[in-house]
Amino acid sequence: MERKTKIIAGNWKSYKSEGDVHDWFKQFAEKQKKDSFEKSHSVECILFVPFIYLSLAKHLIDHFRLPLSIGAQTVSSYPSGAYTGEVTAQMVAQYAKYVLIGHSERRKLLGEEERTLTEKVHLAKNAHLETLYCIQNEETPIPIGVRYVAYEPVWAIGSGTSDSPENANKVASVVKKAHPLQYVLYGGSVTVKNVEEFLKMDAIDGILLGKASLDPYIFLEIVQISLRT
Ligand code: PGA
Repeated sequence: MERKTKIIAGNWKSYKSEGDVHDWFKQFAEKQKKDSFEKSHSVECILFVPFIYLSLAKHLIDHFRLPLSIGAQTVSSYPSGAYTGEVTAQMVAQYAKYVLIGHSERRKLLGEEERTLTEKVHLAKNAHLETLYCIQNEETPIPIGVRYVAYEPVWAIGSGTSDSPENANKVASVVKKAHPLQYVLYGGSVTVKNVEEFLKMDAIDGILLGKASLDPYIFLEIVQISLRT
C-alpha cells in the first residue's frame, strides 16, 4: 500500500532579511543537490514566509527548481477593497498554495478570535488557498471546510519542551474523529532529535516547525528523516 504523504512545514514567523532569504534558498538548493534529494511523493515541504517575501520565495523556488510549496502566515479577514494595509487571500494566492490561520501567537498578540479566523478560512477557500489551521488543544473549534490542522500546544511553542508524541497522537486521533480532516500535524519544539518519534505516530501526518525551519540545513535534515520514517 502506498503510504500517505507526510507534510514538513516551516513557519519563519517574523524573521529574516531579504539577504537571509536569498541565502536560505541558495544553501537549501546546494545541500539538496549534494544529498541528491529530489521531489518526493512521500513528503511535501511547505514554507510559511512573511508576506513581503512571498514573491521572492516563489521566484527562488522556480529558479532553483526546489521541491517546496509556499504559504503565507496569515491573510486578511476582509476581501479586496478599502482596507488599508491588509493583504487579501486573492493577493496571496498569486504566489502561495497554502495559508496558516489561527496560530496561537496571532490569537494572543493580535486578538484574533473564532469569528475572524472563520472569515479568513472562508476567504482563503474562495481564493483556492489551502488552510493549515492551528489548534491549541482538542477543544479548539475548527471552521467548516478546513482539511489541514496543526496541533500546537501554546506551552510547547518555542519553549524547548515538546508535547509527548503519545499525547500529540491522542489529540490528533480525537480531532480526526470529530472533524473530516485529511492531515493533522504536530508543532511545538520539534527538532532533529525528536522528530522521528512524532512521525512514527499513526494519527500524525506531519510537522509544523518554527525555529528548526530557520536554518536550511536543519530543515533539510528533518525532511530527510521524514523520508526514512
Ligand atoms: P517552534 O515553533 O518549533 O519554534 O516551537 C512552532 C510554531 O510556532 O509553529
